[in-house]
Amino acid sequence: MGYGEVYSAWQRDPEGFWMEQAQAIDWARPPKTALSARDATYEWFADGMVNTCWNAVDRHVEAGRGDQIAIQHESPITHATKGITYRELQKRVASLAGALRMRGIEKGDRVIIYMPMIPEALVAMLACARLGAIHSVVFGGFAANELAVRIDDCTPKAILAASCGLEPNRVVHYKPLLDAAIEQAAHKPEFCVIYQREQEVAKLIEGRDFNWHGFQYGVKPADCVPVEGTHPAYILYTSGTTGQPKGVVRPTAGHMVALQWTMKNIYNIGPGDRFWAASDVGWVVGHSYICYGPLLAGATTVVYEGKPVGTPHPGVFWRVIQNNRIKSFFTAPTALRAIKREDPDGIWVKRYAQHDLQAIFLAGERADPDTIAWAEKHFGVPVIDHWWQTETGWAIAGNPLGIELLPQKAGSACVPMPGYDVQILGEDRHPVKQGELGAIAIRLPLPPGCLPTLWNADDRFRKSYLTTFPGYYETGDAGLVDEDGYLYIMARTDDVINVAGHRLSTGQMEEVLASHPDVAECAVIGAADDLKGQSPVGFLCLSKGVERDEADIVRECVALVRDRIGPVAAFKKAVVVERLPKTRSGKILRATMVKIADGQPFKMPATIDDPDILDEIRAALETIGYARQTHRV
Ligand code: COA
Ligand code: AMP
Repeated sequence: MGYGEVYSAWQRDPEGFWMEQAQAIDWARPPKTALSARDATYEWFADGMVNTCWNAVDRHVEAGRGDQIAIQHESPITHATKGITYRELQKRVASLAGALRMRGIEKGDRVIIYMPMIPEALVAMLACARLGAIHSVVFGGFAANELAVRIDDCTPKAILAASCGLEPNRVVHYKPLLDAAIEQAAHKPEFCVIYQREQEVAKLIEGRDFNWHGFQYGVKPADCVPVEGTHPAYILYTSGTTGQPKGVVRPTAGHMVALQWTMKNIYNIGPGDRFWAASDVGWVVGHSYICYGPLLAGATTVVYEGKPVGTPHPGVFWRVIQNNRIKSFFTAPTALRAIKREDPDGIWVKRYAQHDLQAIFLAGERADPDTIAWAEKHFGVPVIDHWWQTETGWAIAGNPLGIELLPQKAGSACVPMPGYDVQILGEDRHPVKQGELGAIAIRLPLPPGCLPTLWNADDRFRKSYLTTFPGYYETGDAGLVDEDGYLYIMARTDDVINVAGHRLSTGQMEEVLASHPDVAECAVIGAADDLKGQSPVGFLCLSKGVERDEADIVRECVALVRDRIGPVAAFKKAVVVERLPKTRSGKILRATMVKIADGQPFKMPATIDDPDILDEIRAALETIGYARQTHRV
């Protein structure tokens, strides 16, 4: 069957389609019902009983894959390269799960995981899954304050962490960040388990902290606990429009059924194949395609601790692909742009053999056609853009290599995957004409695996996603569909920006800047960045009477964002301005400011309060290297 037939088969009988896919999963009790409605939302496989860890680990050992490498750790920073077989993984996961259970962790308890790119991060996730505990992984690039916000929101009974993470230029001291977060949070976990890395041995707090290995000493390994299909597998926080991140809930059964389908049909990966997603376990790509997807498929996954360039050279990705005979590789366009900048002629590419590589997949941000063309030229394999979000957990649109490779179109994320009825809607809430730009929405119900709600925030879920377009899920992206049904993702419709494939909230940064004692008002925009796609730029209006050196205030604001949100915000540029451009009703004209910063022609907004402000904004932006060729049309 080709893509068209598969998509039509789903359209004809969505429930039958997913029931059939559900057979690829081992169930403790198979579901009788595929889809059911609860309040205003939908649930998949609610009456099935199932365990994720069983499906990701144990069943492969039972099926004779015990000696196959499940996780390959590649750390060009520590020079470590080692593999863990499925059998060994099963042992480690069952042991950690047993120890967690001994300390009182049960089905439904939350556990925060705060770890760098080491195999133990996956062991921790799987140990939670084994018990039916709900994990929430927090990315290492966030500051203590962000960790504290997540602790208070999901109230974990335990936190599993490592002593440190390793960035090329510094050691990230996880333990002091963890201690500070627990100190700040109103909720206190009962205990923490710390994996001590040889690069840094952290000081433990007596009575609260345990050593990873000592904690497991002499415990009885735990078996897998079957849970309801709708039981939350994990919570993953992502940026919304405010400082409070959204806790995306992932339902257990739909998650597995969907990921298993994608491994074969999108990535063309089956048992024994080798797959690598160069992301971080702190992001959704890491959850779906470093941990769960490849392991559910019985494939080998790579846990990579390093960067695309500088650790030590721009050929390191290709070396890992060669040495591990990677078949499908997944990365963010930013990473390829970073490599292309250092290796425009592909000299490093040629140094390594990529015999097994069948395709490169890109997601996380818009893939620019130049970068795709560069990669296709040097690798001679399809470079496939696909579009998805933390909320969906898997691709909404893509080119389903495992079904058939459709003709590629530069700038397009290709076609909708089965499960997604994608519509482009106008302000009148009706579909726009073909080829016109509009808000991208998905007709309900969403397919298996997508979020049923936000953790402890049903109302926010409905307001954020289901209210603007009744009967649809609002993606927050804008785009268009062409005459062949290909989807083009053009921009966000909200205040979310995308910096090096990392989803960040300008609203959240504004909240931090506004807390500076000298700042009366502020705005943050995402300006175009050749490497990172976008980068945040802040505008600060100072309080009356402040006569301090503006450069000092800017420096303090930059430090404040790093301290409160974390280095990952990459907030490095801000300017002081007298006033912000606003509409007569007081709305800040961020879109116009972005155009000015990017040097694009812009129209004077009809509703602007005072047109002269735009000249002031342009002049201020020029002082920090933006707004070079901008002009009014
Ligand atoms: N723990 C602690 N700090 C981290 C971190 C982590 N896990 N990940 C990133 N940071 C820090 C970086 O050290 C950097 O700090 P600095 O300001 O002190 O230099 C800051 O956060 C910004 O990081 P990043 O955006 O990654 O930029 P970079 O300059 O370190 O590297 C690229 C640039 C392009 C090489 C890098 O952004 C990259 O590899 N991008 C790929 C993106 C990706 O895979 N995204 C996942 C979505 S699929
Ligand atoms: P995240 O939830 O962090 O995965 O970020 C999701 C957002 O990243 C999407 O809503 C888009 O704005 C953007 N995004 C992800 N993949 C793509 C893509 N292939 N093309 C364009 N934008 C993308």
